[in-house]
Order: sequence, then structure tokens, then C-alpha cells
Amino acid sequence: MPAPRTLISVSAPGKIILFGEHAVVYGRPAMAVPVSQVRATVTIEPRAGPVEIDAKDVGRQYALRDAPSDDPIATMIERTGAWLGVELQDFAVHIRSTIPVARGLGSGAAVSVAVGHAIAKFLGRDLPREQLSALAFEVEKLHHGTPSGIDNTVIAYEQPIYFVRGEPITTFTVTRAFRIAIADTGVVSPTRIAVGDVRRAWEAEHARYESLFDQIGAIIPAARAAIESGDIDALGPLMNANHKLTQQIGVSSPEIELLVDAALGAGARGAKLSGAGRGGNVIALVGEENQEKLVRALLNAGARRVIVTKIDKPPTD
Ligand code: PMV
Repeated sequence: MPAPRTLISVSAPGKIILFGEHAVVYGRPAMAVPVSQVRATVTIEPRAGPVEIDAKDVGRQYALRDAPSDDPIATMIERTGAWLGVELQDFAVHIRSTIPVARGLGSGAAVSVAVGHAIAKFLGRDLPREQLSALAFEVEKLHHGTPSGIDNTVIAYEQPIYFVRGEPITTFTVTRAFRIAIADTGVVSPTRIAVGDVRRAWEAEHARYESLFDQIGAIIPAARAAIESGDIDALGPLMNANHKLTQQIGVSSPEIELLVDAALGAGARGAKLSGAGRGGNVIALVGEENQEKLVRALLNAGARRVIVTKIDKPPTD
């Protein structure tokens, strides 16, 4: 007789893109890190009958079988079930998340990854990270249209990721820890819209956009080398250069510029938008000694909330 199923809970982190957003959609490299202070948590509760989904944070409670065909949570549940080859019934899926939605912190991908992982664990099955990431990528297509795959990858692997679309995943090594302040503009910016606008601009001005993507792409290996050699001082100027190029792509906004200027004015060594832009979050490189001053300056400039995350060296065993 199979073991009785018990309540289980798993979580997945948020993420920030350090370098290379948008250009990554067009085959250039990008770097991203997980942010563990904000998480999506999924609890699977044994409950007789059809599968129920409870995502109260976003005001939704519904039966899996009543979900529209493009519902991201239902799609992830169904694809996970199909991959595992199981019939989906006799449980409820509870979703809670502290990751702000549509702010470039990977909330959608984190929910997908946590849902897939939780269902597999509940059923006592193994769902390798590579597969979990691939399933979440399918769901990202519903959110984004043409996602690069970086969000689902960094969140499923929960490690720093150097990402090139279509290439095997590589992680990068953090040799010296550094701190990044993540400041929320409060402006909701659906990735699909920014990505769609960039695509139209790229179609209209192909050579100019290809050149901008090339210039962004050239920053990434330098940033990786700086992080891997522990030359954190070199990172700030590279962030600023990347930010200037995202302005030229057309994805900055007055709210983003306000926070970038406030960060640099308070002594951040570099600052840029992170994610799709148009709103969402700004990231700034900050020294421990300057952290409080920077956080205050960002809040005074209108940031809704500021998280400081330490990008750490990998644990040694
Ligand atoms: O999900 P966001 O807002 O972090 O945006 C993802 C980054 C983009 O490069 C703009 C899109 C993508 O799919 O990589």
C-alpha cells in the first residue's frame, strides 16, 4: 500500500538580474542571482476530491478543472502531473508569496518552480532541477511571450547563473561577497509589455538595437571576471554602463532614474534597473559601511521598499 500522503511545504526564491536584461532575449549573455529574502511558498494539503488552487495573495481560489487554459498556476500543475505520469486529484495547492508581482523579481517563475517541486515531493517523486526549470519555462511563455529562460533557470537552480539562451547552464563563482540594495519603484511593469515594445523597436531599428545588445553583451564577461576575481570595485562602473544602455533601449522610466540618481548620490558604487524595466526594481552596489545611508536615500526618493541582499561566496564543506 502506498504511504499515506502528508502535508508538505516548499519554497523558491526571488531573483535579480545583475547584468544583461533584454539583450539576453537576443542571445547575449546575462547574469542573475537568487534573492532568498523574498520567496514563494507552496503547501500541498491532502484533501479528497478534485484539485483545488488557493492563491489568496492574488485574490484567487478555484478548482484546477475550472481554470482557463492560459492560467499559469494550473498549467504548471498539469504539466508537472503529465511529466510525472500521475493523475491529479486528492490535494489542494496553497500558494503564498512575499515576492512583489511584476517588479522584475521573478515572482511568476518562483511560483512555478515551487508548485512543480511541491507536487513532486508530495507524490514522493523526483523532479530534477533541469526538468523543473524546463516546465517553468513553458509557463513563463504565458507570462512573457518570448522569455529568455533566465528567470526559471536561476530560481530552479537557486545559484548564481551566467546565462546564454540555448546553451548549457553555467554558474559563476563569487570570490568576495558583495551587497546589492534592491529598491522598488512601486510601479508595476508586466514583463510581456516591455519585452514586446523592445521587440517592435528592434524590428523597426534593427542595426541600432543589435549594436546596443552587442554593447550590453560585451559588459557581461567583464562583470563575470570582476566577480570571479573578487574585484568588486570594477562592478560599479559596469552596472552604470549597462544602465545607460538600457536607457537607450527605451526601458527606463522617470521613477527608475530617480532611484538610480538617489543611489549614486548616496555613494552607491553603481546602479541600474533590473529586470524588464519601465518600473520594477533598481539595484545598487553598496558597501556595508554605507548601507544605512543608501537605504534612507532610496526611501526618501520614493522607493516603496528596499531589500539589501548579500551575494555570498558558496558555502565550503
Ligand atoms: O522577469 P523580469 O522582469 O526580470 O524580466 C526578465 C528579463 C528580460 O530580459 C527583460 C526578459 C527575459 O525573458 O529575459
